[in-house]
Amino acid sequence: MSTFRSVVRGVGAYLPARTLTNADLALMVDTSDDWIVQRTGIRERRIAAEGEVTSDLALNAARVALADAGLEPADIDLIVLATSTPDNTFPATAVAVQAALGITRGAAFDLQAVCSGFVYALATADTFLKSGSFRRALVIGAETFSRILDWSDRTTCVLFGDGAGAMVLEAVEHDGDAAARGVMTTHLRSDGRHKHKLYVDGGVSSTRSVGFLRMEGREVFRHAVGMITDVIEDAFAATGVDAQTLDWFVPHQANRRIIDASAHKLGIAPEKVVITVDRHGNTSAASIPLALAAAHVDGRIKRGDVVLLEAMGGGFTWGSALIRW
Ligand code: UT7
Repeated sequence: MSTFRSVVRGVGAYLPARTLTNADLALMVDTSDDWIVQRTGIRERRIAAEGEVTSDLALNAARVALADAGLEPADIDLIVLATSTPDNTFPATAVAVQAALGITRGAAFDLQAVCSGFVYALATADTFLKSGSFRRALVIGAETFSRILDWSDRTTCVLFGDGAGAMVLEAVEHDGDAAARGVMTTHLRSDGRHKHKLYVDGGVSSTRSVGFLRMEGREVFRHAVGMITDVIEDAFAATGVDAQTLDWFVPHQANRRIIDASAHKLGIAPEKVVITVDRHGNTSAASIPLALAAAHVDGRIKRGDVVLLEAMGGGFTWGSALIRW
């Protein structure tokens, strides 16, 4: 019996034009370039223009991913868009992207798992493609976190930024060969007991407003490395891949210290780790596809390479994915 495997056909990224540097932030709140670089590795982030919404960022990234794949919008029959900063409460930001691309068939929906959103969206699209329900998917992570930041709170406003990244996946017949290209495994986890450690203090049903991001940074940090390494060990156990046979580690780009500590604990060599957090800060669901696109464009990630993705964020949610590129 033939089955399907979800093969990466293309990736794309988009960052808004306006750059906000650490020096700019030091003029707004009591902080410094030194503190931000030492504690997080972030040097600058991008901020969406007035009137530029999450679907605009997503659309730009999706167009780049489609061009990279050599496909037309009409080839896509599934859009899964991960975001915590949608254009509107409803309809889904994914349908705005679908309409802007002129796609009138298949399905488009949003998914909300905060910083783990891209891994969750990838796992969801992979499940649909493997089952034969859809043929080609756009998996997008897109955020305008600048709109939910309290710009007077130095403990959060220096950490986040806006951006979008997209991946085109295609269902390809699979004869069971473990060395075949495609998504090899995905592992998703959540634990709602931690929901008050990273949250937005408003919402449709609670305050009828948007609210601002609030975070117990030290608490998130304390849990991050353990959760990340656990779910990566699950991915290794499921596939037989390990830190040595892995080609690239593309983690969620939240904090350089978390990335370095996770890689060190797992025994992943520093030269295999893709880092872009310095250029765009924590862009939540967009951060993994932004980093993937960077390493694809500069030629580091090549066809056949084994690529490990990982994310952890609000909820808490966390997850991993292994892909043979
Ligand atoms: O995607 C998942 C989302 N979130 C994360 O991954 C974030 C996880 N957490 C972190 O990355 C780190 O906890 C932070 C970068 C947020 C903070 O680093 P930290 O080393 O845990 O610092 P801290 O919270 O323990 O604060 C140390 C000091 C405090 O001053 P006192 O109490 O020691 O006098 C803070 O008030 O640094 C102060 N501080 C700042 N100073 C300058 C906090 N924010 C700033 C700032 N500039 N922006």
